[in-house]
Amino acid sequence: MFKIQIKSKSFQTPDNTMNHVLQNLEFNIKEHDFISIIGPSGCGKTTILRILAGFDNDFDGSLLYSPNSDNNYEKFDSLGKIGYIPQEFSLFPWLTIEKNIRFGLNIKNIPKKEQDETVDRLLDLVGMKEYRKHLPKEISGGMKQKIAICRALAINPMSNLIVMDEPFSALDAQTRNALQQDLLDIWRKQKLTIVFVTHNIDEATFLSKRVLVLTKLPAKIIKEFNIEIPHPRSRTNLEFNKIRKDLLSYLN
Ligand SMILES: Nc1ncnc2c1ncn2[C@@H]1O[C@H](COP(=O)(O)OP(=O)(O)OP(=O)(O)O)[C@@H](O)[C@H]1O
Ligand SMILES: [Mg+2]
Repeated sequence: MFKIQIKSKSFQTPDNTMNHVLQNLEFNIKEHDFISIIGPSGCGKTTILRILAGFDNDFDGSLLYSPNSDNNYEKFDSLGKIGYIPQEFSLFPWLTIEKNIRFGLNIKNIPKKEQDETVDRLLDLVGMKEYRKHLPKEISGGMKQKIAICRALAINPMSNLIVMDEPFSALDAQTRNALQQDLLDIWRKQKLTIVFVTHNIDEATFLSKRVLVLTKLPAKIIKEFNIEIPHPRSRTNLEFNKIRKDLLSYLN
């Protein structure tokens, strides 16, 4: 179990004033959670994910981890230990699909045989074994995002935690819906823990156990929704639409 505590996070602007982005923002991430974060553009969602992934340590607050989920938290450095899928397509265009997945494993000096097993297992998981020698430009946008998920999982993240920054926003509606279902299948099969940023209320309602709604700058959490609709969720279901409407009312 993780806890993120941000008392404040600011960036210096070019005219030397401070842009206060996040303030008194705290939440837990439980094992096998699925948390979506929604909020206005520019409110600090990417900043939260970058802090979680350990790319940005320049904030007042801490990242905490409770190894036994018993509320005994210790500070920890998450860099390289959790999976991160950034806001833009992130595959290296000059590397094959297989080499993209191996990238983090090479950095960690994982033996070749173990790498081979990981690549096979993950390509099998997303049903893309026959694409291993392809280059990113030779596969579709949806497939690229599946490979980005493989790459995030390849490093064997702590508590199977991956953070995803609007991973499906560049996809057409049909591909997006299919990938949401694929992601839920992978989440369940691999017992993943996911923190997911999206602007799409329908997507947040379809996927999440919990949704955190952020305010404008300096952003804090104004509302947390627990979504208990069992899977598979139907987008036309009454309860689904009620949650969607409630979420929308907090964004306007
Ligand atoms: N490296 C940086 N240097 C200076 N300011 C930054 C930096 N990164 C983000 N900011 C500022 O912090 C604020 C939050 O940015 P962030 O990218 O986290 O927003 P976001 O909620 O992810 O937006 P979007 O929904 O458009 O992706 C913005 O005002 C942005 O200008
Ligand atoms: Mg962003």
